Amino acid sequence: MLVDSFNRKINYMRVSVTSRCNFRCLYCMPNTPFSWEPKENVLSYEDMFEFIKIAIDSGIDKIRLTGGEPLVRKDIDKFIRMISTYAPNIDLALTTNGYFLDHLAPLLKEAGLKRVNISLDSLRQDTYLKIAQKDVLYKVLNGIEASLSAGLGVKLNVVILKDVNDMEISDLYQYAKKLHVPIRFIEYMENSTANANIQGVSSQYILDELSSKHNITELPRDNSPAVYYKDEDGYVFGLIKPHDDEFCKNCNRIRLTAEGYLIPCLYFDESYQIKQAIQDGDIKKASEILQTVIQNKPEKNDWTEHKISNRAFYETGG
Ligand code: 5AD
Ligand code: SF4
Repeated sequence: MLVDSFNRKINYMRVSVTSRCNFRCLYCMPNTPFSWEPKENVLSYEDMFEFIKIAIDSGIDKIRLTGGEPLVRKDIDKFIRMISTYAPNIDLALTTNGYFLDHLAPLLKEAGLKRVNISLDSLRQDTYLKIAQKDVLYKVLNGIEASLSAGLGVKLNVVILKDVNDMEISDLYQYAKKLHVPIRFIEYMENSTANANIQGVSSQYILDELSSKHNITELPRDNSPAVYYKDEDGYVFGLIKPHDDEFCKNCNRIRLTAEGYLIPCLYFDESYQIKQAIQDGDIKKASEILQTVIQNKPEKNDWTEHKISNRAFYETGG
């Protein structure tokens, strides 16, 4: 079991398989050129898998594949199968923009993936295009349906931006409710690669908007970064409030980047390279690095609106 110095049990690892993406969301990497190539030193699936085995053997029982956009990396289904064959009982999930799910969902499910979190920031074609800079709302909606048909667990993620999609809070909520999938409204996290002119809205604003139409009660908090609520029909949805200190109290996660950096906290600059140890076949060294990361996990994020993270979110998978 992995326990950090604040007595938090760490059982969740997010693995970014690529920092590339086929979208250019305003809040993420709006100005990154499409010709941008990843560094040559991206870890192979085999190297990542070697470290994942160590992590699972040490107590990690939940793995989420992220990016960038994880589905732009070739043969992701084979990587999923490697993990699910080694540890069929772990909670294996993936976060995606949804673009490739219309045809990949059954293959991912068959490879052993259990759940997908899909970003859906608008139900209007023009607004979707404005946020993601890609005119593909229809394809993402098909991807959501394909995932449900394939039997994957589905959650939707939405980032509300002032004067961009803040008039769609209710519509997005109704859409998700109709599909019986939880939607989570994530407060926009200011960062150095985002569009400089966008502004988020507070989770309180979102809650007020929904409370004006529904009878909402807060559910007891678990170790998810989201606070969950239910409405009068028992429909459950979440708010993710990174601007709130409570966010870090039950943190149970670490992150591995595509280049092999192990990161104890999204908003701290510290990182530890595991690539050399893995490529040397030095399991002991890799385990020591894992222990060091757990020991050095900070109590809470070192981040405010005014002291933004220098590390791009697309390197760490959010
Ligand atoms: N602020 C809030 N959420 C973000 N995401 C990506 N960048 C940001 C940001 N700056 C979310 C996306 C997606 C997940 C990968 O992270 O909505 O659901
Ligand atoms: Fe791509 Fe996700 Fe970033 Fe949008 S938020 S640009 S989909 S990685």
